[in-house]
Amino acid sequence: MKKRILFLACLFPALTATAQDAEIKSSVKNVEAKVDSVLSLMTLEEKVGQMVQYSGTWDLTGPATGDQNQYRKEQLKKGLVGSMLNVLSVDATREAQKLVMENSRIKIPLMFGYDVIHGYKTMFPVPLGETASWDLEAMEETARISALEAAADGVNWTFAPMIDISRDARWGRIMEGAGEDPFLTSRVAEAKVRGYQGDDLSNPASIAATAKHFAGYGFAEAGRDYNTVHVGENELHNTILPPFKAAANAGVATFMNSFNDLDGTPATGHRILQREILKGNWDWDGFIVSDWASIAEMRDHGFAEDLTHAAEIAVKAGSDMDMEGGAYETGLVELVEEGKVDEELINEAVRRILRVKFKLGLFENPYRYSDPQAMARIDRAAHRAVARDVAKKSIVLLKNEKNLLPLSSSVRNIAVIGPLADDKNTPIGNWRAQGEANSAVSILEGVKNAVGKDVKVTYAKGADLGVGERSFLKPLKINTTDRSGFKAAVDAAKKADLVILALGEDAFQSGEGRSQVNIGLAGVQKDLMKEVFAANKNVVLVLQNGRPLEISWASENIPAILVAWQLGTESGNAIADVLFGKYNPSGKLPVSFPRAVGQEPLYYNQKMTGRPTNPTDVTYSAYTDEEKTALYPFGYGLSYTTFKFGDLKLSSNEMTQQGSIEVTVPVTNTGNKAGKEVVQLYLRDLVASTTRPVIELKGFELVELQPGETKEVTFEITNELLEFYNADKKWTSEPGEFQVMVGGNSVDLKKNSFELN
Ligand code: NOJ
Repeated sequence: MKKRILFLACLFPALTATAQDAEIKSSVKNVEAKVDSVLSLMTLEEKVGQMVQYSGTWDLTGPATGDQNQYRKEQLKKGLVGSMLNVLSVDATREAQKLVMENSRIKIPLMFGYDVIHGYKTMFPVPLGETASWDLEAMEETARISALEAAADGVNWTFAPMIDISRDARWGRIMEGAGEDPFLTSRVAEAKVRGYQGDDLSNPASIAATAKHFAGYGFAEAGRDYNTVHVGENELHNTILPPFKAAANAGVATFMNSFNDLDGTPATGHRILQREILKGNWDWDGFIVSDWASIAEMRDHGFAEDLTHAAEIAVKAGSDMDMEGGAYETGLVELVEEGKVDEELINEAVRRILRVKFKLGLFENPYRYSDPQAMARIDRAAHRAVARDVAKKSIVLLKNEKNLLPLSSSVRNIAVIGPLADDKNTPIGNWRAQGEANSAVSILEGVKNAVGKDVKVTYAKGADLGVGERSFLKPLKINTTDRSGFKAAVDAAKKADLVILALGEDAFQSGEGRSQVNIGLAGVQKDLMKEVFAANKNVVLVLQNGRPLEISWASENIPAILVAWQLGTESGNAIADVLFGKYNPSGKLPVSFPRAVGQEPLYYNQKMTGRPTNPTDVTYSAYTDEEKTALYPFGYGLSYTTFKFGDLKLSSNEMTQQGSIEVTVPVTNTGNKAGKEVVQLYLRDLVASTTRPVIELKGFELVELQPGETKEVTFEITNELLEFYNADKKWTSEPGEFQVMVGGNSVDLKKNSFELN
């Protein structure tokens, strides 16, 4: 641990606290008294102003143009705005802060929020990809670096981590979360909160984090973004809420609510979620920002008559800040004056907002994120090294027939083929913050960097993805039928010893509003794959994707397949590290890959159903035209070596609710290369007062093993791991038999069982 802190200190010179920072640290201790004293000075208008957030996509530093710009500047000057989003750079944030600090009556500094999702300038793998590393330290570190770069550019608040459980590959935002499992997502949530916020928000390189989207957004019906969510209480508590609880316990400064309607109530107007559960039962003291205009959108839901009504519903439900919705700004003062909203609700929201501002040290120095030298002090090369490291750890090896990988040194002639082979933009992914377009190392570049002069590398694009103009808000239409590049690709394949075929999705095929009904290889990619494979059987398929893809044909035919997600700035180098065996792949899928899109939503921790299996006829829960299992299950991923799991030893076959037992498993590297295995612990509660999943992840550990080496891995099973939201609406465990399972994925498992008394 010591070594790591030292490393972080060298990487982050800005972390070295100045005398002023020490002062800030000590002064944030008395936050509550200060919050109350500021609140007591505020008028109702000023209080409501704190609950308003503007987007700064207009020109702050230049001359004011247009009525809205002028109006908004005046509001800032009057101190009637609590925070802004999308205002970037030290200059722009300082300029906005000055409007408030030099003109308003009580000078409450602004917070500046931004979607720093997987990097700020240095881009790391998209969150779904990064989760495939199962490496929590690495995930914490990338958040720390993102915070450092963002803070150096004036940003003090990120709208991350997104911890929506998502089981539907059609949903474009699946790329933005940690996948389908609540336990894994909870651990990622904690790591990310630690990374962004550090031990203490008053650290100058820390920024406030946001747990989003509260709640249920990832369960959008049919995978269509913003769509209605139908989940019952059992699913809500057992599957959707645990990562949010973990983030709240980790001290996340803010929550963001969500666009969706949850069983008849828009989440933004959901009192039970926000007031009862989050602020009540969980006793969380941060503030909730709405999603973009989600308060105003309650009109579109048919849940509010007008903006003022929407404001009333939202504030009563516990939404503290209105992101660009104009509802609080329009209606809240009047609602209080008319007696429809109790001013105490406003006071409570403002207290929460001021608390976070105090903790960030903004009252002591509103310009502490406005240091013009901060960016220059950042060691971008060191950040790139971390980006390469985490990228290589995120790659998942799905198939490796005849040990085609790692590439043998006898390979002299490599063809790098495919629409994504020399694509420097796709690896940057969606939600790219200030990651520059076309700035990633492409696969072709990575391969060329890795090979010596005696290896010939040829390139053929083969086909276009055919997605037209690529940008955050432009819809992508994949309609290309152009096969004119096939011949050159086939010729290159014929002449090569081996083909690296780079297929998948464009960066903007996943992300917000990017739901798809097809999740196969779009355009003519599958045809290109078939023709290239007909010309040369030694094909390594490298997929870049923000969601699970339907790849049944490839899985049956192509000998080697790597999932390389969208890996960020160092993508091509990281892929080459794995292709050439400089890194032995250790990534494991955080989501199930389906056999067919019709299986979606597909996830490993399903319920049993009353008809789990009856192979003698058709009347059981299955499909008549396809297997019901995943093509590649949750937790799956191969290595260049092999691992063997021994039998599970339990310290006892009985456990009490007050006690715990240990499960130990020997894991042996049975191959001839050193490698890392993600040892996964699963449990099953066989009979309970509500139906329970057939299997649930409850622990994991990364174990590094030399060839022939065996290590014993021990997990402690505590009562906490057995608890669930039961039929009495209590979070508790229930006595009875539990199955314990351990393995390298969610299917191939060693089993044992114990009794909870
Ligand atoms: C809408 C998205 O749903 C949310 O995740 C994001 O933080 C906001 N827009 C701000 O960009």
